[in-house]
Amino acid sequence: MSNEYFDKQAAAWDDNPVRRELTGAIAAFILGTISLNKQFSVLDYGCGTGLLSFLLSDKAASICAADVSDGMLAQVRKKITDGNVKNIEAVNFDITKDKPLNRTFDLIVSAMAMHHIADAFTAITKLAQLLKPGGWLAIADLCAEDGSFHEKGVVVHNGFEPEDIAKHIKSLKMASVIYKNVFEIPKNKKIYPVFCICGKKKQIRPCNSC
Ligand SMILES: C[S@@+](CC[C@H](N)C(=O)[O-])C[C@H]1O[C@@H](n2cnc3c(N)ncnc32)[C@H](O)[C@@H]1O
Repeated sequence: MSNEYFDKQAAAWDDNPVRRELTGAIAAFILGTISLNKQFSVLDYGCGTGLLSFLLSDKAASICAADVSDGMLAQVRKKITDGNVKNIEAVNFDITKDKPLNRTFDLIVSAMAMHHIADAFTAITKLAQLLKPGGWLAIADLCAEDGSFHEKGVVVHNGFEPEDIAKHIKSLKMASVIYKNVFEIPKNKKIYPVFCICGKKKQIRPCNSC
């Protein structure tokens, strides 16, 4: 899908109250599961206008807000300027195509982006490679749905079975994987649950016998 769709949506993205409430619920779950501190470097992948980035920014050292839509990134930059926010930077980055960022993170979050990425499982694998040892990955997305959530042609995945994402994250040598349905989006007289899965990358232990 082209970035044009999100470029066009960007200016009015934050006007949707359900979207803001959903991001609040995702942030609450992440903050309740992971002890963030002012040393944390965070990557918000598929950040959109940075709704989640701005909710986490005063709990962390720095936030790298990454997306492929220049329209969305322009909104992030506008909010950084308007709020005089010093620790968020907006970066155009596609982990499925670009060379890896030359830094690692204590926490990588991604909210509602994976269902737009064809090879979402490879994207998650590559995100996990950008974690420091002991770092956390938090993926929030739609639970598998019948295709009625979006208009035709907008997405490549009709949500995910949370168990499939959890299994994949476990396969990436995450020490603990915790997940929960954190929100229900009301739409089209239906309810669409949203999960959030957090996994902690294993620490590298020094070998005492070497
Ligand atoms: C549904 S929006 C979610 C935005 C934001 N995380 C939020 O919760 O408000 C999906 C976002 O993923 C971005 N996106 C789509 N494909 C991407 C990719 N391959 N890499 C990074 N971002 C991508 C889109 O540009 C869009 O901003």
